[in-house]
Amino acid sequence: MKPVKLGIFGLSRGISLLRNAILNKADVVALCDMNSKRLEDVKANSGLDTVATYTDFDSFIEHEGMEAVIICNFFHEHAKYAIKALEKNIHVLSECLSNVTMAEGVALVRAAEKSNAIYMLEENYLFTSFNREIKRICDGGTLGRILFAEGEYNHPFWPQESVLYKPYAYHWRNMIPATYYVTHSLAPLMLFTGATPKRVTAMPVYAEYGKKDGTNGIFHHDRAAAITTLNDDDSVFRFTGWAQFGGDGEHYRVCGTKGQIENVMGTDGKIMLRYNRWQKPDGMEDTNFYKPIIEDEDKEFLEQAGHDGGDFITIREFIGSIRENRRPIFDVYSATACASVAILAHRSQMGNGIPMDIPDFRLEDDKKKFENDNLSPFYGSDGSEPTVRCSSRPVDIDFDKIDNYQKTLDEITKEYGLIDILQ
Ligand SMILES: NC(=O)c1ccc[n+]([C@@H]2O[C@H](COP(=O)([O-])OP(=O)(O)OC[C@H]3O[C@@H](n4cnc5c(N)ncnc54)[C@H](O)[C@@H]3O)[C@@H](O)[C@H]2O)c1
Repeated sequence: MKPVKLGIFGLSRGISLLRNAILNKADVVALCDMNSKRLEDVKANSGLDTVATYTDFDSFIEHEGMEAVIICNFFHEHAKYAIKALEKNIHVLSECLSNVTMAEGVALVRAAEKSNAIYMLEENYLFTSFNREIKRICDGGTLGRILFAEGEYNHPFWPQESVLYKPYAYHWRNMIPATYYVTHSLAPLMLFTGATPKRVTAMPVYAEYGKKDGTNGIFHHDRAAAITTLNDDDSVFRFTGWAQFGGDGEHYRVCGTKGQIENVMGTDGKIMLRYNRWQKPDGMEDTNFYKPIIEDEDKEFLEQAGHDGGDFITIREFIGSIRENRRPIFDVYSATACASVAILAHRSQMGNGIPMDIPDFRLEDDKKKFENDNLSPFYGSDGSEPTVRCSSRPVDIDFDKIDNYQKTLDEITKEYGLIDILQ
């Protein structure tokens, strides 16, 4: 079988996905980034001598014979490019979030429904080793009926990460509402349980950043959001968006009528699996604490991949769904459901936790309701201004931090050095 001809759009996160596309034996035919130096450096370091390079998407998407694209440009601008690819029947693997306005979500679903191509969300936390184990146990049915699940994605930026990943004051990472980076915490819960959120409420976790808190706190001071959803099977999820507590890590817990499972933070991926004494399966203890060992035909590649193998498996799943012409794990409906939770949770937290109903974009009535809802908290690359605030409560923009942004980055670099993402 011929390898899938693949293009990659956006070469920061895209570098890691490029490595994993190569490990997955995709034929990477084109790369696109408006930063031409980065583009040429990536090409030079990739070992792909013949790969074509583009600085603008409209030329890139016309690349002869390209069958699939990975979209990993700015967080708040994925949807319009995904739609252009789908209109050309080019398969799309899109970084998270799929869309940052409700109207984009509607347009994306409409484009996917018309297209012959596959749309999949690039959500790698679905496939870390501990999450694969949680999924295996949930599928086995020994937990009973699933009632409740929790998810936490906690990533306080260390100083060098700010230099790399928030390179200027108006970068999306400085203005992203705390509820928007939600897929790392929510998507695994949806995959474990099969449930989809129907109603959301959210509370902000607010603590003001000081002047010395590096690049944090320009547009808002929300350290996290505590989000709760009621789901279509009457289960309840409680999760964060992108949290910035002290001590980083991810945590997931699934509770059923007979037992519960979680990964324990700070134990290098160990699992705690507990049952009611009278309902434990044969061969298990009431309390089981272990490091999962999961067999995989691509074990050697998983060990080389980022995010505990998740980056490799996401691309393997994408290529597999193209080859087998099947629905991928995390298709356009699951992706836009996550995005609706992110967007409407922010509206909930701005309104002191008011409940918001999550639409089902399979339904025309729900599409109609949101097709013109263009509220966005981001400054766009085209110079457009935000139309809703990014903060849970009204705050003054810190223009002093904006004016001194480059100076702050220089000070951080002087003190901590710099990481080279192209290595
Ligand atoms: N799943 C994960 O673990 C993970 C990790 C990091 C980032 N991400 C996601 O990846 C996406 C990108 O984030 P990032 O960390 O790479 O930082 P980023 O958003 O700052 O970088 C995006 C890259 O895309 C390029 N780009 C943006 N718009 C472009 C355009 N119109 N034409 C050509 N090039 C363009 C930029 O020059 C830059 O190189 C985000 O959605 C982020 O959420 C996911």
